[in-house]
Amino acid sequence: MAKYIMENYINDIDKKGLDKTWHSILSKTLNNTFESDIFVIDNFGELYEIGLEHVNKISKKEMGKYYTPKDVAIVMAKWLKTLPGENVCDVGCGVGNLILSYFEIIGKDETIKLINNGNLYLYDLDKIALDICKYSIAIKYGKELLKKIKVRHCDFLDKKIKLPKNSKVIANPPYFKIKDYGINWKITKVINDSKELYSAFIEKIITQSSSSVIITPYSFIGSGKFYSLRQIMNNYNGFIVSFDNVPGNIFNGRKHGIFNSNVGNSVRAAITVVENKENINGFRISPLIRFKSEERKKMLNNDYLYKLINDRYQTVNNHNKSFYKCHKDLLNILDSWENNSNEKLGNIINSNIGQKIYLPTTCRYFTVGSKKELNRDGKRIICVIDEKKYNYVYCMLNSTFAYWYWRLYDGGINCPLTIINSIPIFYDKLTEKQRKEIDNIATEMQNNEEKYLVYKMNAGKNQENIKFPIKYRNKINKIFFEALGINNSIEIFDKVHSSSLFSDKECDDDE
Ligand SMILES: C[S@@+](CC[C@H](N)C(=O)[O-])C[C@H]1O[C@@H](n2cnc3c(N)ncnc32)[C@H](O)[C@@H]1O
Repeated sequence: MAKYIMENYINDIDKKGLDKTWHSILSKTLNNTFESDIFVIDNFGELYEIGLEHVNKISKKEMGKYYTPKDVAIVMAKWLKTLPGENVCDVGCGVGNLILSYFEIIGKDETIKLINNGNLYLYDLDKIALDICKYSIAIKYGKELLKKIKVRHCDFLDKKIKLPKNSKVIANPPYFKIKDYGINWKITKVINDSKELYSAFIEKIITQSSSSVIITPYSFIGSGKFYSLRQIMNNYNGFIVSFDNVPGNIFNGRKHGIFNSNVGNSVRAAITVVENKENINGFRISPLIRFKSEERKKMLNNDYLYKLINDRYQTVNNHNKSFYKCHKDLLNILDSWENNSNEKLGNIINSNIGQKIYLPTTCRYFTVGSKKELNRDGKRIICVIDEKKYNYVYCMLNSTFAYWYWRLYDGGINCPLTIINSIPIFYDKLTEKQRKEIDNIATEMQNNEEKYLVYKMNAGKNQENIKFPIKYRNKINKIFFEALGINNSIEIFDKVHSSSLFSDKECDDDE
């Protein structure tokens, strides 16, 4: 028998359509009448994507489909194994990356038992993907299981769709802005406020299951429009790990791993593990994990990730609306900073009256404030109302504190004004001597701004920025530590700027 190759696949799709092509591949594979080196379970996901794009039915982006890479799926599956719940559900299962990884972790006997007992539920809107998922399970664990898998071809947000009692869920929901509400949806405040499909999925999963492991964009951790989701999360408990997308990226930044290498998804992701232990409210949150691609293997380890998370269960309320992503050993510094601050930066700056400070809107490894107007796109101008506080604000913006605050509560591409305005301020805690020191450092930096100008091409323009020597930042940090009564050595802040999980060295990249 001639082996089935990509050319046959494309021809079949053109002749019979995607649906029939896959049914033929799946039933022949199940009955051992199919020979191919590439059409094997592990490649089904990518091959299906290639088929989808070939028929140009709908682009992957439009569907919000970003398949979970294997190494990430294994981490999620290991966490799911530890959680309570008799029924196991994969919501938005696609071709089954998550559930198949879970079966690998629990082993063949447990898998067969689970399915035979009628405890496996699969949900997806895409009928072909669901079939690939179901058949992949049957091919791996036995044809006789086909009838026992509870397959739900549905819109998961449909009111009529309910998760079974005592269920644990694994999910990578679609990432998609909601344009129109489904006619059968229950329109919740979370949907109204966020207009994001993924948060609607999180809400439904959390409120209907005993426990869950969900990978999504990380924006729900801090962004204002997800406050109502975080309020709901107050009633549950667990932990969240979140990942930056540079230099390394959880989704690999690739679409088709082996057949194609287009740049694809570069979303900043979070894995939420809902444990629902007794008598606990809230979520423990990891720092925003930044890793180099070569560190990926070492980093994607459940024990390693778990150890990065601090012990504080965070809930939100009207005064503290966001979760913060704090390193374990920096919590005491954050506490001292917030407790010793009597106002927010927004109270002492405005947009037009006072002495100006210029800030590039994007930041990557540090924040910058300058007296010189930077010749670049994307800059903000803030005005310090009280002249005597000008140098303090200037130093704050060039210190680790301002940069760290952005990483704690945001960490995306831009530093939003809301974040700048909410930076805690402790000018009153500085002694006269410390204020003088701050004045001296600020004056020296301002006099040398021209000397440290750096340029980077972006949008066809050489964008100007300043890269001050690290000694200035360290000097400012030291004075601020003293003013706040923090006893740690300032080197502890190196990790805030580091591009690597395993070293505190600052990255060379300047934006
Ligand atoms: C990000 S993909 C994840 C696929 C797979 N679970 C994985 O982790 O690789 C999201 C999946 O959700 C499905 N989906 C999109 N909208 C849906 C809806 N309203 N109800 C159920 N499933 C949906 C898509 O078909 C897709 O398979």
